[in-house]
Amino acid sequence: MQHIKDEILKLVDLLNKYSYQYYVDDNPTVSDTEYDTLYKQLEKLEKKYPEYILENSPTRRVGDVVLEEFQKVTHTIPMLSLSNTFSIDEINDFDGRIRKLLPENKIEYICELKIDGLAISINYENGKLIEAATRGDGMIGENVTENIKTIFSIPKILKDNKTFEVRGEVYLPKKSFELLNNNREKNGEQLFANPRNAAAGSLRQLDSKITAKRKLSAFIYSVVGENDIDSQEEALILAKEYSFPINTNYKLCKNITEVGEYIKYWEENKNNLPYDIDGIVIKVNSFSSQEIVGYTQKSPRWATAYKFPEEELATKLLDVELSVGRTGIITPVAVLEPINISGSVVSKASLHNKDIINELDIHIGDMVIVKKAGEIIPKVVRVVRELRKENSLKYEMPNICPSCKEKTITREDDPFTRCVNPNCPEQNIRKIIHFASRDALNIEGLGDKVVATLYEKKLIQHVIDLYSLKKEKIIDLERMGEKSVDNLLNAIEDSKNISLDRLIYALGILNVGKKAGKILAENYGTLLSFSKATMEELIGLQDVGKITAESIIDYFSDKNNLKFISDLIALGINPTYTKEKISEDNLFNEKTVVLTGKLISLTRNEAKESLERLGAKVTGSVTKNTDLVVTGEKAGSKLKKAKELNISVISEEEFINLIKEV
Ligand code: IVH
Repeated sequence: MQHIKDEILKLVDLLNKYSYQYYVDDNPTVSDTEYDTLYKQLEKLEKKYPEYILENSPTRRVGDVVLEEFQKVTHTIPMLSLSNTFSIDEINDFDGRIRKLLPENKIEYICELKIDGLAISINYENGKLIEAATRGDGMIGENVTENIKTIFSIPKILKDNKTFEVRGEVYLPKKSFELLNNNREKNGEQLFANPRNAAAGSLRQLDSKITAKRKLSAFIYSVVGENDIDSQEEALILAKEYSFPINTNYKLCKNITEVGEYIKYWEENKNNLPYDIDGIVIKVNSFSSQEIVGYTQKSPRWATAYKFPEEELATKLLDVELSVGRTGIITPVAVLEPINISGSVVSKASLHNKDIINELDIHIGDMVIVKKAGEIIPKVVRVVRELRKENSLKYEMPNICPSCKEKTITREDDPFTRCVNPNCPEQNIRKIIHFASRDALNIEGLGDKVVATLYEKKLIQHVIDLYSLKKEKIIDLERMGEKSVDNLLNAIEDSKNISLDRLIYALGILNVGKKAGKILAENYGTLLSFSKATMEELIGLQDVGKITAESIIDYFSDKNNLKFISDLIALGINPTYTKEKISEDNLFNEKTVVLTGKLISLTRNEAKESLERLGAKVTGSVTKNTDLVVTGEKAGSKLKKAKELNISVISEEEFINLIKEV
């Protein structure tokens, strides 16, 4: 049977090579028919000899695992974002800052296309793809391993036993986007606004069979935890060596003038690419220089994203829709004849408030100029008055709320039209959505649609009702299977353990955002003591302004809100703010630590969290700046490098004993 095994191996290798040429190099060497014939041959053999099916076989690429829900993945090294620049002047400033920090060095920049998709991280262990995750909030992402495995160009097995992480961008080619939307239109399904949204929607599918059908692609732009490379260019070359799809349009630039030329070229040629890009990423090429230049809280100082200028287009304003927010503000939204702006189908645009509507002098049926900038919701910037039809009607904000039909309030000195009815359904729904949202109580499964349905069916009318929801009552609701109801009820129960800062933010007090939530939690310690805050105290707090203080006082002067607070406390939702105090006088404080190998008695993430609590910085690669390496089982190249550089190495057991002592 050896010859069958050999034949299968040969076919797998050949087909993988052809698909790499097709999907990655954009340079197929055989016709589609030839590929298909070989593919069928392999399928036939695999059917007959299933015991010889290889894990990296192209026939295995369509995952058929149905995930119950996305698990969370904590990124060992946070996935940061990039600072944005919008002009050549700003690029020159960026260069100036880098030069100041690297006065002695020869600086080379590597310019890459900024692919308009979504960031992913893929982990390989001993040459096998073991886990893939979305960026999420940068710290925690969603486990999308099965879905990533359906992407043709992503290798599932590497040519040798490498353990590293690669990061890159998953995107939907323009052609696949068009096909997908055409099909959706035929089936009466909602269209995706742009390839980026379609890519995100396709990757974040619970059923990887759906992802497989969407023809996603990816470009890898970074390799994490690999010691043998010293620059971004080497990282790209290494990624290519390991058969990862890289975008070969990058360019190494000797100075900022060359960077400018690259930007200009792609600004003019971006529309000829088969995928969307929204700018250019400029990175300091050398890793040792990157390390000197360092990071801010959110992004590397050694890189920036140049964003292409916004595009403006004319279209017809068909109508104005109104949406009621949780604070009662009624926002007008322009309904437009759909147009394609830089690859996105735009059919809605924000009109903000009555002052903007008056300033623009909006009439229904007007030809309007719409502008779209990156991620931001498009907006109407101008009306083409010359094309206005006679007798067209000027748009006026309504006197009644579109949700509850009560009278609205419009004042001269307030740009917003407001609904002040405390029983307005839309406001109440929005309040509950805010309470459950990611930065607030983060109740999984309680998205906009579920809240609206529960509200409309009168199962909840207020946040507090969430905690008395009964399984039997929700099980009949559309699209709520037993499992999702159980998950939802568990998530609601778990949300009782929320921290005080998030709970304060969740209350939805006007002008109290996440940051204010933290400050207030720190200063008041409990919900009850916060609810008794005085104006004087609040204004005295750093970073709490007069307007926020007034909003807080206003909120607690309403007895319904006080009742809400006491109901929360009665339910046991009564967190106290505790600030962990750990002595700085410990062995790990201010040390740069690398974790390597497989840890046994705790997860890598737990080890990282413990170290960070003790003031250490955990990094992915061993350099001369590393102070300590903690080794688990099968530690490889990092351990070797640590020895070469004479860096202290301790075992997992020693590490655990040392943290116990702190
Ligand atoms: S480097 C520290 N290179 O742009 C972040 N990012 O905010 C390093 N992106 O979410 C990112 N193409 O997903 C880098 N060639 C490229 C990129 C790229 C697209 C995305 C990335 C990130 C966002 C920047």
